Amino acid sequence: AQSDRDSMFILNEYARDYFVKILHTHPEGKAVGLSYFRERGFRDDIVKKFQLGYSLEQRDAFSVEAQKAGYKRDYLLKTGLSTGNDNQPLFDRFRGRVIFPVHTLSGKVVAFGGRILKKAENTGKYVNSPESEIYSKSKELYGIYFAKNAIVKQDKCFLVEGYTDVISMHQAGIENVVASSGTALTYGQIRMIHRFSENITVLYDGDAAGIKAALRGIDLLLEDGMNVKVVLLPEGEDPDSFARKQNAEGFHQYIAENEVDFIRFKTQLLLKEVGDDPVKRSGLISSVVESIALIPNTITRSVYIQECSQLLNIQERVLISEINKIRRRNY
Ligand code: CTP
Ligand code: MN
Ligand code: MN
Ligand code: MN
Ligand code: MN
Repeated sequence: AQSDRDSMFILNEYARDYFVKILHTHPEGKAVGLSYFRERGFRDDIVKKFQLGYSLEQRDAFSVEAQKAGYKRDYLLKTGLSTGNDNQPLFDRFRGRVIFPVHTLSGKVVAFGGRILKKAENTGKYVNSPESEIYSKSKELYGIYFAKNAIVKQDKCFLVEGYTDVISMHQAGIENVVASSGTALTYGQIRMIHRFSENITVLYDGDAAGIKAALRGIDLLLEDGMNVKVVLLPEGEDPDSFARKQNAEGFHQYIAENEVDFIRFKTQLLLKEVGDDPVKRSGLISSVVESIALIPNTITRSVYIQECSQLLNIQERVLISEINKIRRRNY
């Protein structure tokens, strides 16, 4: 029911304020959580802006406090802030972690991500709120609330993988940035970006997994008529680690110099892998042709056909006839 949803948002807001307060005022929060952010190089104003927090190690600290404040067990369970079986005491989902609230487009707190501070022993690095009546991971984009104005003004959106990438880029002065939170981009997330701009630049980790993830999400973007560019980061870096290794200016410059059109990026990447093997070469051409065929705009398609004809050293009319075959099949 709508009243359930409203109550869940109110509880999440309370939890957000609680975790923020713990981070800034509780001895454990300051010594562990706030120091962690500072050691990572997050400025205090950025920590405040993103409403970052800390959850105490004590296994029921939040659940007890929230119930004392009058919040009902039912909602603590529904939001996933607490866990517990029938009539048993509640325990906290987030313990001894730094907390990243996830905001909707309009700034409501819909979920939390909690990061462990030490190297992972046997738990995952991040624990996230479970899917619920108000939270569907694949529909939200981390950072969209803080990014939307900048996306409109610059008519462009950067897409990164994680929470800390969004935050570090803000700190470096790039505010038009959102994260898919480690999963493949969904159609709903793409529509959300598209409401503000048609231009998207994907900034993924410079490792094999990052490149694969980038290639996967991008066909959906092309199909939606977005103009897609890619920046490949140096091997082993994500936007956060890379931004911290240099000043903001160096980071901006790297992006400006390394931003390439997606179709060109994909073609060149595959060309490198293929060498002169004719079978692999034909596979490469099919794969590039499949991507071009997704582009709804005829003029844009023909620009890419021209470019790929040169890059692949293959006649335009051959590419055109293949693309038309695919489009007849699919559309
Ligand atoms: N993620 C997650 N659960 C995990 C691992 C990752 O939800 N167990 C999501 C988080 O949103 C994370 C993003 O995927 O921010 C990217 O993962 P990763 O690159 O491993 O983490 P970083 O954001 O780089 O975090 P850090 O720099 O703190 O290690
Ligand atoms: Mn459009
Ligand atoms: Mn990664
Ligand atoms: Mn990362
Ligand atoms: Mn990282």
